Amino acid sequence: MEEKIKSIESAAVEDLKRVFTLQNLERVRIKYLGRKSYLNQLFSQLPALEKDKRAYIGKALNLLKKKIVQLVKEKQEELEKEEEEKIDLTFPSEKVEVGTQHILSYVSEEICDIFEKLGFVIVEGKEIEDEWHNFTALNIPLQHPSRDVFDTFYLMESPCGGEGREKEREKRTSRFLLRSHTSPSQIRVMEKFKPPLAVISPGRVYRPDEPDASHSSMFHQIEGFCVDTNINFSHLKGVLLHFARKFFSPEVNLRFRPHFFPFTEPSAEVDISCIICGQENRGKKCSVCKGKGWLEILGCGMIHPKVLENCGINSRKYRGFAFGMGVERIAMLKYRIPDIRLFFENDVRFLNQFY
Ligand code: DAH
Repeated sequence: MEEKIKSIESAAVEDLKRVFTLQNLERVRIKYLGRKSYLNQLFSQLPALEKDKRAYIGKALNLLKKKIVQLVKEKQEELEKEEEEKIDLTFPSEKVEVGTQHILSYVSEEICDIFEKLGFVIVEGKEIEDEWHNFTALNIPLQHPSRDVFDTFYLMESPCGGEGREKEREKRTSRFLLRSHTSPSQIRVMEKFKPPLAVISPGRVYRPDEPDASHSSMFHQIEGFCVDTNINFSHLKGVLLHFARKFFSPEVNLRFRPHFFPFTEPSAEVDISCIICGQENRGKKCSVCKGKGWLEILGCGMIHPKVLENCGINSRKYRGFAFGMGVERIAMLKYRIPDIRLFFENDVRFLNQFY
């Protein structure tokens, strides 16, 4: 029995010397201290021994068990320490670059959200339009300068000619183009759906402008309109004032300046009171409003009866208001961005500022 005890001890010491991982240590621990271990078997033989021998061997077995427990514990501490040393906690970690939404998407969504909460529904129009939807149906006359090739990108592909009534022929022969504003979304929706309508339509628009600090050949607009039996100009004013106060600041005021758009009558351009100087610097130097106290943010008006009729909507029964704004311009005002080209250069030093 003493022999066996000695050999277990030396075997355990040898085995532990060859342990280099915590996993292996667990295996060795089970081998020597587990329920089915050799040591345990010896313990179970104790009752069969003579009384004197039992006490003596029992003591030796207990000592051995204690010793192996101690050795395993020491080994465990040693391995855990090694593991810790392998990970250099002072080593600088690799920087994880996190992508984020582009500032224009963010601003566009923020604007649409405000109108959605008022019950407006988002409808995306088409980026490739035809002359009917982009101009004619919007009451923009044939000789209007915006139809010029210097103001609109026309596509080479032309639709085939058509016969029939004048309007039908015009629709079918109208050339394809990249839409120059989001107003054709009004036509697309009104041709398809009957009032009551409250729609907000964001998207890209294109104009062959020479790029500079405030012009880009592609930019974004948001169109909004509402058609029903009792719509009047005060609804338009209320909706836009709500929008401006939610988006810019609760203190902001609006000014409606008479203007002309072929698709609305009456029409107006809308200014907000300067969000930078709060009109404190009127007549003096404010770099943003240039001392005027007002900043133009959008165009709007009551939808022209001819536009409603072009979409098959009875203009004696229904009325509507409409408005259109440039997303870049609005974002530039809110975040004081000095140059429109910054949006499209995708310099991360610019983009990172709008987390
Ligand atoms: N489509 C106009 C533009 O691109 C903006 C606009 C003005 C839209 C008045 C409207 C409106 O719906 O009523 O300049």
